Order: sequence, then C-alpha cells, then structure tokens
Amino acid sequence: MYTAQDEKRLYEQAKHLLKQNAGKAADTIVQLREVINYADWKYYVQNDPTLSDSEYDGLYKQLKNLEEKHPELITADSPTQRVAKGLSERFPTVSHLVPMLSLDNTYNADDLTDWDRRCRELAETDDIEYCVEPKYDGAGISLIYDDGALTRGATRGDGVMGEDVTTNIRQIRAIPLSAELMKYGVKQIEIRGEIVIHKKVFDAFNKQRVAEGLSPLANPRNAASGTLRILDPSEVRKRGLNSILYHVSSYTMTSPRPSFDKLTMTEEREVLPGSEHPKELDTHYDTLKWLYSLGFPTPAPDMKVFKHVDDVIRYCHEFEGRRDDLPFEVDGLVIKVNDFAMQEKMGSTSHHPRWAVAYKFKARQATSKLVDVEFQVGRTGAITPVAKIEPVHIGGVTVTSVSLFNEDVIREKDLRIGDTVLVERAGDVIPYIVKPLAELRDGTEMEIKFPTHCPACESQLERQPEEAAWRCININCPVQLVEHIIHYVSKDAMDIRGLGAANVQKFYDLEILKDIPGIYRIDWNKLKGLEGFGEKSITNLQQAIEQSKKQPLNRVIFGLGIRFVGETTAKTLANAASDIREFYTWDAGRFATLEDIGPKVATSVVDFFAREENRDVIKKLDEAGVNLLNEHKGQTAADGELAGKTFLFTGTLSHFKRSDAEKIVEDKGGSILGGVSAKLNYLVVGEDAGSKLEKAKKLGTVNILTEQEFLKLVEGDFA
Ligand code: IVH
Repeated sequence: MYTAQDEKRLYEQAKHLLKQNAGKAADTIVQLREVINYADWKYYVQNDPTLSDSEYDGLYKQLKNLEEKHPELITADSPTQRVAKGLSERFPTVSHLVPMLSLDNTYNADDLTDWDRRCRELAETDDIEYCVEPKYDGAGISLIYDDGALTRGATRGDGVMGEDVTTNIRQIRAIPLSAELMKYGVKQIEIRGEIVIHKKVFDAFNKQRVAEGLSPLANPRNAASGTLRILDPSEVRKRGLNSILYHVSSYTMTSPRPSFDKLTMTEEREVLPGSEHPKELDTHYDTLKWLYSLGFPTPAPDMKVFKHVDDVIRYCHEFEGRRDDLPFEVDGLVIKVNDFAMQEKMGSTSHHPRWAVAYKFKARQATSKLVDVEFQVGRTGAITPVAKIEPVHIGGVTVTSVSLFNEDVIREKDLRIGDTVLVERAGDVIPYIVKPLAELRDGTEMEIKFPTHCPACESQLERQPEEAAWRCININCPVQLVEHIIHYVSKDAMDIRGLGAANVQKFYDLEILKDIPGIYRIDWNKLKGLEGFGEKSITNLQQAIEQSKKQPLNRVIFGLGIRFVGETTAKTLANAASDIREFYTWDAGRFATLEDIGPKVATSVVDFFAREENRDVIKKLDEAGVNLLNEHKGQTAADGELAGKTFLFTGTLSHFKRSDAEKIVEDKGGSILGGVSAKLNYLVVGEDAGSKLEKAKKLGTVNILTEQEFLKLVEGDFA
C-alpha cells in the first residue's frame, strides 16, 4: 500500500501540515486525510507509530476545523466521519451474505497428522500447501465493502444472523473506511476477521477502571466483544480496539471489467464457496497479502506456508512457546489449505470448513473448588472479596486466590462457597472465575455473606449509589494506612526496592513506619538486630530511599494514591505543572481542561489537594528532599530523546529486567515492537538470542546492541 517513498512523503507532509495552515482548503483537506489515514495504519496495522498523540490530535483538529468551515467537502470516508454523534439506539439484526462458519479443533500432533491425512484423501493429492496463521482470541466480525467503501460491519451472532454494529466498527482505526478495491474490479467484498484489543491497552484500561472503583473486565476477548456492543460510539473509539482480517467469504466483480494492474480477478465469481478464482489470487496467502497491501490489517506478516504436516507441527510447537510475545491474545494457530481450488473441492460441513483447522494451545482454564472468600481492605478503603480456591495449575502458574472484585460480581455469577468453579488465566492477565458449574452442586454449598463492617477496623461499611464497592471510610483504618505506603513504594510509583509489602507491614507493626513521609525518617537504630536486616540490606534500603527522592513528579503524584488517578492521569497532571503545589489553587474546571480528565476525576483531585492532612504530607516530603517539581512541563514523551525510535529485546537479559528496559524506552518516547521488521531500529540482545537476531542480521538495517551498549544509550536511567 505504501512504498518507502510514500512513507517519506507522508511523514514530511504531516510535519509540513503541523507547521502551517497553508494552501487551499480543498487541497489541505485531502492532504490531511491522507496523513491521518497513514498515521492510523502505522499505529494500528504496523504497530509502529510515526506521530505522537499530540501531533495526531493537532492534524485531526485541523481537518475538523476545515471541514466545519467547508461542510460541502466532507466525505463519508474522511477520518472525522468515524466519530458518530449521539448514541446508537440498538443494533438491528442482519443476515450474513455467507454463513460464518466455525473451526474444527485439534490439540496435538496426532490430531494434526489425522487431519492432514483426511485433507490428502479429500483433495486426492499428496501435494498440499498449508498456510499457518495465529488464531486471534477476540470477537468475530464480518465487513462488507461496496464500491470500495465500508458499508456494513456485523457481529458473528449465530453465524447466519448477526448484529449490525457498523457505527462502532467505524471507530476502529485499523479498519479502513475505504480502499482501492475498485481499481481491481472488486464491486462488493465480504471480509471476515476478529476484533481484538492489545494486551497493553487492555491492562491500562483495567487499571483505570480499578482506579475509578469499577470492576475490571475479565479478559481481552470479553473486552473486545463487550465494546462492540456499547451504545456510545465515542466510548468505543476511546477503547482503542484493533482488528485482524483473515478471510474473504465472498465477492463480486464490476462489469465491464476495468483495466487491471498486476492482480487479475475473474468477473462475478465468489471466492468461497465458489467456482472460479481470481487468476493470480488463487491462494489464501496471496489474497491476504493483497488485502494487506491495500491497507487492510491481515495476518500477512505472521503467516507461514508449509508443504509437510511435520513442519506445521514443529511450527505449532515453536509458536506456542512464544505466544505471549504477540501484542494480542492468541489461543492457537489456524491451519488452512492454501489453494482455493483445493479448498472448494474439500468443501465444508454445516459447522466448519474441511480445509481449515484450529490447533489450540494448552488451555488456560481449569476447574477448582471455591473453599472460602476473604475480604480485603484496599488503599482507598474499598472492600475486595477474594476467592480462596484449591490450588490449580493454569498456564504455568499455581493459582490459589482469585479476586471477585465486588459484591455485584458474586451475585451476578451466583457464586457459592463449595462450588466447583471454572477458572481462567489468559496470558499475562490476572486469573478470574468464569462461572460456577451449577450442575455439580450437591446442596451443601453456602451463600457468600458480604460483611457490613470493615474486617480491619470494624467501622461500618458504606456504599455510594453509583459505586460497585463497599468502602471503609475511616481514614485511620490501619490497613488503609499500610496500603497507602505499599502503593507509594511500589514499582510503578516511587519504586523503593527492599521496602516491599511484607516489610512495610512489619515496619508498621513495629511502629517504625506509620505514614508515607515516615519513609524518609526511619529510625535505623530500631532496625538493627531485626531478622533479615543485616548491615548490607540496611545500606541498600537507605540507598533506595535516597534514590527515590529523585523520581519524576508523575511518580510522586501516582504514589500519593489520589482516588481515580492512575499512572496515565498522573502523567497528565505532572505535565501540567512545574510544582505540585500549583494545584492547591486549581479548581475542578481547570483540571477538567486537561486531556482525559473528566468531572469525577477533577473533583477527586481538588478534594485531595484541599485537605490539610494531604498538604501536610506534601510539605513533609518537600522537607525530606523529595522532588516535587517538573522542569519539563508541557513536554511529552514524543519529544523524548528516543522519539520515533523502535526497540525490541530478545534472548535472556542478565543486566536488567525486560519490563524495566521497555519502560525506559517508552518514557523516552521510543516504542517497543513485537517482532523484527524493516521498521525496527534497535534490537537489544541478551544470551541465547535466536531467530530474531538472525533475522535482524539478514535485514541489515537494524542496529544490534548488547545489553551494555543499550545501557550506555539510556545512560543514567537505571537505578
Ligand atoms: S478462519 C471459514 N482464521 O476462531 C473460515 N478464524 O474458533 C473460518 N478465528 O469463528 C474462520 N483467528 O472467529 C479463522 N486466523 C483465523 C482466526 C479465526 C480467530 C476465530 C473465528 C472462528 C473461531 C473458531
């Protein structure tokens, strides 16, 4: 779709447009659309952003303003037209042009060998090419493009009928609103795929929900399918969904036939099930590559073709080992007979095509028994029920406790003590209880009683009408005090190593530490003779505390544990002031002018800074020498020294943790890629680096760094 020359031109065009409002409105509008579409493609399809968020917003606003001045120039495929005003009423039911079939499953090498044998029988040949691609764990969708423009997006529904969710689909910036399909004579095309959510986006979204007192969404799959059916399209846009399209279910060609470029398609034929296939597009692989070249987010970069099932099996095993490396949740691989004519010959059952099969990775679900429910008091006083279950092994870890989030979740799922429960742990995501297996109950199960009083200080719990959580509102509740300190020292806040949760609790119990500023006034004599606190560990702790004084302001703000202020909001706040005390004079209206800060967060922040006891904490932190200033006010990470640079870490790293290093790159404006490609600037290699290193060497365009070289590059950023 974009040649290297295009990319260079569009990048420069973006920079030019950002600098001045030049040229004729009509021309500028066309140029703006072009660069915004390009930026969306880079961000969502290539996972390799070119513009910073603020630059993107700047261009978008320019386009919006110009279109407002010249409404006659608005077209349906303008990026501004993704955003719909108002709420959707409901989603009408629509029928799919071709039923959306499911896939048959295989779980091991024997299953795959059997399937390969059946394929060879059905195809009446031993010469079969298999195309292997990831199986994305999201929500299935079907898209229709008429004359090159997206006209309908529907959920899978029962496979025959789905829900028309076009308005929501249009919010997903990975999905082109239009494409040059007509150039190839494609009049109408129905494309199938999956709506997915980036694991990182999902985690950040859930953190924000928890900070807001809401229960987190269970897993990326539920988040994707739930979001598709939200009635407010602007909320859909905010959630940053992504999409992968992996199947063309039907198409028709224009008649008379237009002139073709390289690719030739025959007229009025369906791809599947159908008779004749496009001349040069006679394989699944080529078709998805072609769609990719038109700007569609297909698995093209992650597809592989093999001739022998043994190679397919080997690849499946190898891929399963790195399933967590992909930015999306993947629950298996899909193996498809590559050749369309062969697919057609093999046909489908009413449930699944015979020419495709899913190879499912080891389940990250298991059953266990719900033994008890404990009620924990959080930093904000919220009471969280935590299910204690019989130890169960899921995806490499033993799970013994699972958060139930709040009372409503318990009631909705109708959980009871003694229930056999289905537990799921998706990727890096926290485990959760999917449902009780009600059919296994024997009558001895017991209702879960939610406490009326705080389990820590026994004061009466309260629940605000709009909130999911019961709360202890006693500010001297000891658990909350301890939790506050634990949060302040945590990795994402002030990152004081050696002062983990257990030590904070110990110090609190021994009255060595009773509040946040107390960290900087620890009586070290009291620690002497304490088990586990030799001279060395005391010196280390002293150093870590000393280092924390230099942490940037956003970490201090996050560490203070202001309600509704997660890491992102803390960054926004820190960026808006040069001294935290400036906020003492801000009112809610002023806070609400900041990006993504709504009235609820604004009120909470105003309340926080208005309280004498909080100002006292800030004063004491200042006296202790903790940094409360932001010298880089107004700068974004995009201005950072690694802005626009892409990194990937591979092999066993011995000098630092991968997550720490990735964070440093991102803090400096760089981004992390999922694999080696021409877009990669730096590959940092640890021990036993394998195929990624080989690939990077082959490409010849990637800077290969040792751990030491990387450390030098980001000098001074590791504590
Ligand atoms: S092909 C006729 N390819 O998995 C073609 N499906 O468990 C059938 N899925 O219903 C679909 N990744 O929603 C195909 N690369 C992929 C896929 C994929 C995920 C979903 C799809 C399907 C379900 C079956």
